[in-house]
Amino acid sequence: MTASLEGQPLDFVIVGQGIAGTTLAWQLKWRGLRGMLIDRDNGDSASSVAAGLMTPVTGKRLVPAWRFKECWSAAAEFYRRVEVETAARFFTQSGQVRLFDGQKTKDDFECRDWEQHAVEIRQPPSSSLVDDDCFAAPFGGFELPTAGRLDVPVYLAASRRFFDVDGSFRFANVDAASDVEMTESGVRLPGLNMTARRIIFCQGFSETSNPWFANITFEPARGEILTVRINGLAETRIVNQGVWLTPCGDGMFKVGSTYDTTGLKAGPTTHGRDEICRRLRTFLRLPFEVVGHASGIRPIVSGRQPIVGFHSEHPQLGIFNGLGSKGSLLAPLIAAQFADCMVGMSSIDVELDVRQRFPDRSSVDSRVRVPRLTEQAHEIMSLVVKPGDIVIDATAGNGHDTLFLAELVGEHGTVFAFDVQADALQRTADRLSKGNHTNATLLQHDHAEMNQYIPEEHHGHIAAAMFNLGYLPGGDRSMITKAESSLTAIRASLKLIRPGGIVTVLAYPGHSGGDDETRSVRRLINDLSVTDFETSVRTSMTTSETAPLLFVIERR
Ligand SMILES: Cc1cc2nc3c(=O)[nH]c(=O)nc-3n(C[C@H](O)[C@H](O)[C@H](O)COP(=O)(O)OP(=O)(O)OC[C@H]3O[C@@H](n4cnc5c(N)ncnc54)[C@H](O)[C@@H]3O)c2cc1C
Ligand SMILES: C[S@@+](CC[C@H](N)C(=O)[O-])C[C@H]1O[C@@H](n2cnc3c(N)ncnc32)[C@H](O)[C@@H]1O
Repeated sequence: MTASLEGQPLDFVIVGQGIAGTTLAWQLKWRGLRGMLIDRDNGDSASSVAAGLMTPVTGKRLVPAWRFKECWSAAAEFYRRVEVETAARFFTQSGQVRLFDGQKTKDDFECRDWEQHAVEIRQPPSSSLVDDDCFAAPFGGFELPTAGRLDVPVYLAASRRFFDVDGSFRFANVDAASDVEMTESGVRLPGLNMTARRIIFCQGFSETSNPWFANITFEPARGEILTVRINGLAETRIVNQGVWLTPCGDGMFKVGSTYDTTGLKAGPTTHGRDEICRRLRTFLRLPFEVVGHASGIRPIVSGRQPIVGFHSEHPQLGIFNGLGSKGSLLAPLIAAQFADCMVGMSSIDVELDVRQRFPDRSSVDSRVRVPRLTEQAHEIMSLVVKPGDIVIDATAGNGHDTLFLAELVGEHGTVFAFDVQADALQRTADRLSKGNHTNATLLQHDHAEMNQYIPEEHHGHIAAAMFNLGYLPGGDRSMITKAESSLTAIRASLKLIRPGGIVTVLAYPGHSGGDDETRSVRRLINDLSVTDFETSVRTSMTTSETAPLLFVIERR
């Protein structure tokens, strides 16, 4: 690429030098196009914190990655070529070990037809899967030989150096609304004294403020990641069980990551760090020291597939975004396809084409709508609770949760709803009667005694229990839930639920007594046996020490 001033239009300008923009810049350069890569270096990119893992199977439920075989071979070939051009090293093929965290994951694994998904699997005997002195793997696991890691900061820095020397990198902040003018043959960026046939926005999560693509709905997820030092661990593969541990050399490892769709404004948090450490301890026997902690926002768009393509009215405007949690793996293949399209050699895959995926224009304001924690608790319940189930609302209050549960379980199910206040149960009864729901048993008792009031035949068969702690909104604020009885009740509910059942606890550290109670709930959750329970915590948008927290506990 070579730089160009006004009067000598460039073939393209790319805004954003994360994984998307950088990878596209290489693919366009290799197709003989001239352009400029621009970044503002705010230090807030997802790429700057990404671990760069490329794995064929992801998530707790062992989901095969989208078009892994194609993406992997495109990525391996691409990164090796850039390594040659930049004389830097950032791509490693390392293999991955996946340890089962319980019988359920093992069953999920055994049910899947891996050949059909073209995922290469090795199952060495448990005794030789991992070093027993370093890792606990009571349920065994399997190995994925085709996996690897991109050292993202090194890849980005080497590429930037290359384009800088070439005269095709600019450090600048491009305001898509005010800095870009449409011309007959492309775009003009007067502030940068530049014209180009096309401008491609690769802004990651910051794209949410780009008015040209206001119709795209983002579902971003914040993630935290740790750097740890582990003396005496010689493992060279990525090891994964709830969190992944990946070697970086010299006794240093990256561990991560959390997945939080609510607290987008927060940076690294103590609960993020605690959660990663706790999960790491479930399978790592060696001591470790945390030496680094970072967070970033994964650019995920609705539909969870990346998007590429051009604006429907202004084809000189393009976009490449939505790489989600898999930028390193996906970017080379998709950027190659996009670049081919820009030189007229192919068209864009319909499942990735922004015009197909987001045909309608809508307002910017509705683009990032993160559900409230109460709504998230309902979402979780609706995934688990089925018609005919028996469930518990441990804090009936105004009856919103009781009503929601009553609708989920239907006429053949039952909701046992507790509250210590007659006033609260009256409000709940009124709400239920409006919907003609007769499937709730309202109990004016302390939820700590739930064992006594729920018939024994249901013990161990309850699908779910909801706790919404604190006081009755619009009622007597002195009748507040207290740490001691809340903990007794949560423990009781964990014994009452069936395997696969869920308990949600919405806690409010912001009011007097609530901070103590929230701390106690967190301690209880941290102390639960990881063999028996899977736990997570969700935070609200305005993450602060006083913001509510939603604890989710699933019985394995
Ligand atoms: C904790 C965590 C762990 C992750 N781990 C992995 C992993 O192991 N493997 C993996 O493949 N992926 C991982 N990811 C996901 C990965 O980070 C993303 O898929 C990828 O980085 C997205 O790249 P991007 O270029 O689209 O966006 P970004 O990296 O966000 O880049 C956008 C760029 O645009 C620039 N920019 C924005 N607006 C402007 C403007 N107006 N003017 C100029 N420049 C602008 C920004 O400065 C930034 O450099 C992880 C993400 C997180 C948060
Ligand atoms: C935040 S409100 C619950 C909101 C409710 N889930 C809803 O959907 O409207 C908390 C409720 O817990 C009740 N509560 C307090 N201590 C309790 C206890 N020990 N056992 C049962 N309920 C209790 C309060 O009376 C209050 O109504």
